Amino acid sequence: MNEESKKTAGEASALFVEDGMVLGLGTGSTVKYALEAIAKRIKEEGLDVVALPTSKSTEELASSLGIKLSSLKEYSDIDLCIDGADEVDEDFNLIKGGGGAHTREKIIASASKKFIVVVDESKMVEKIGGFPVAVEFLGFGKRLVANQLHRIGGDPRLRGSFETDNGNLIFDTKFYIDDPLSLEDRINSIPGVLENGIFSRRRPERVIVGRGEKHEIIEK
Ligand code: A5P
Repeated sequence: MNEESKKTAGEASALFVEDGMVLGLGTGSTVKYALEAIAKRIKEEGLDVVALPTSKSTEELASSLGIKLSSLKEYSDIDLCIDGADEVDEDFNLIKGGGGAHTREKIIASASKKFIVVVDESKMVEKIGGFPVAVEFLGFGKRLVANQLHRIGGDPRLRGSFETDNGNLIFDTKFYIDDPLSLEDRINSIPGVLENGIFSRRRPERVIVGRGEKHEIIEK
């Protein structure tokens, strides 16, 4: 059921892609279906788009599907970013980073005029915080980062045997989240932290929720 819902949501997002667009491509098992559907439209309709991937895995998948790729060095303005999420609340605050790609994902989403999130229905929550917040940090500052995360109410757990595409480590950190925007900023103010998986400053304008073979488009 979840897989079908991911597919429905991912595929529906591809309909928002227009000829000539610069795209931001997120990471994960839901975005995979968006990539496949975009590649199909490129082939069948001759759409001319260029895409900026948010991870090595997305780069590999997109290139194997024949999607033309570029980088932020060439394009600093992105028309549309499509990405997944681990949790989405009613105000479109997100938790991302289950795949450890949230730092590049936040950069690409922030450089995008439009931001669409694709999820299966299990990701929709009243309040974010059931899922731990991924905190990417420089290994050099490990002890300090852990202490500071504890101090602001978190419970950091090192993601074992994992290195991000940027060569850093991740603390998966459970928080009780009352004010997502302020927590996002507080975590990022810890020296050594690169980025965390709360997306409250850059929220999507549109969320596509897959519910089995149907989908719902919610807009703000
Ligand atoms: C990658 O780091 C994440 O932010 C993903 O976007 C998020 O975990 C959603 O992934 P799935 O679509 O695989 O659940």
